[in-house]
Amino acid sequence: MAFSEGKFQDVLSEFAATTDFIKEVATNFQKDLQIGLRDPKSSSMRMLKSYVGLPTGKETGEFLALDFGGTNVRVLRIKLEGEGRYEVIKKVGEPLIIPGKYDYIGKNSTADEMFGFLARLIDEAIDGDHSTKFYLGHTFSFPSTQDDLNNAKLIIWTKEFATPGVEGKVVNDLLLDALKKRGIENVVPVAVINDTVAVLLSAAYQQSEVYTGSIYATGHNTCYLESSIKDPKGFGQGGMILNLECGNFMKLTPNRFDVALDRNSEKPGEQRFEKMVSGRYMGELFSMAVAELLDSDKKFDFTSIDMSEIVSDDSENLERAAAIIEEKTGAKLELADLKKIKELDEAIIVRSARLVTSSYVGIVWQRANGGEIETQHVAVDGSVYEKMPLVQENINKAFTELLGKDAAKVDTILDNGGSGLGAAIAAAMAVS
Ligand code: BGC
Repeated sequence: MAFSEGKFQDVLSEFAATTDFIKEVATNFQKDLQIGLRDPKSSSMRMLKSYVGLPTGKETGEFLALDFGGTNVRVLRIKLEGEGRYEVIKKVGEPLIIPGKYDYIGKNSTADEMFGFLARLIDEAIDGDHSTKFYLGHTFSFPSTQDDLNNAKLIIWTKEFATPGVEGKVVNDLLLDALKKRGIENVVPVAVINDTVAVLLSAAYQQSEVYTGSIYATGHNTCYLESSIKDPKGFGQGGMILNLECGNFMKLTPNRFDVALDRNSEKPGEQRFEKMVSGRYMGELFSMAVAELLDSDKKFDFTSIDMSEIVSDDSENLERAAAIIEEKTGAKLELADLKKIKELDEAIIVRSARLVTSSYVGIVWQRANGGEIETQHVAVDGSVYEKMPLVQENINKAFTELLGKDAAKVDTILDNGGSGLGAAIAAAMAVS
């Protein structure tokens, strides 16, 4: 079977992200930031205060870091040595879900089970030592309101998490409760931060000229240092880091696949930007578009990892791509069709990278505030950024399209593992 060219072009064009389109997105993103700075309720982004600024790089001491928010939970014991140096003394980690075995994030799980699981990992990380005092920094990667650095109330689950009994609760209370149940009273949580904030703290601890931190992975979000807001308690320098929760940015037109995906998701109407760009959803967009090309009613389950493998297949006959597509759809396709599916795959990845770059540029413009753009690095962590083919090169390309000669002043840097290190730094800042 060969797809009709007309149908293919129609589907492909849905994922086009032209220069004009990404310019408009960057402009609207900056406008929404400005609206949010005046009144967060009027912006599509939540613009949440983190109650922390940048570290000095001189923070020292041993801290516990709980990194919770993706597929895996990690607990680390980290020794900060100052001058941007650190040592990971111990690291434990386990997935939140092993299909067929356990599931702490589904509708049938409970808050007690979820936080009990976290407490067990913490116990493992401290080798069952229930007497030495440990200060804990907690990276909690979901939209949460804070009134200080140490408490965060979950507004809403994202990334298809659905555990009942956590939304609306102060996560510190749930954690303390679970620790107590295990007889752990020597672990003292002192800071809760979003993972984007953790990435920014971690990168800024190690180098200068970093004001923006971003996660580009299962989920997507970005934070930046807003110089005009000061932390009354004075944790950190340069102003206050705002967790934008820009996965919820909505001032851009979704295509019909985005609309359908949103409609069938756990939380329709929420996280529209995240659903267009992040790893959790790209495979679903691709699955829907492929189903349309194949005239199939079936729900395929391509993941972003499958997408990476398909686009990486540079062989003449696209054997690897053909095998994945056959496994997922049952269809044996001709080479011409395989090439089209690969092109569609590329278009979805490239759109994602270009949209994410537009949001970075919106922040760069906002920090410049009409003046000169400063030399800066946007610190990014996450599997999509790190591993997905085409992503980094298309971010650079989009920077050039959007910033012209100023693109030379802005780049992205990988901040691998920043979620854990950032939590330890936040803890150090809180007790200093
Ligand atoms: C959450 C953010 C988080 C991002 C990356 C989003 O779904 O709302 O808080 O930073 O995922 O983990």
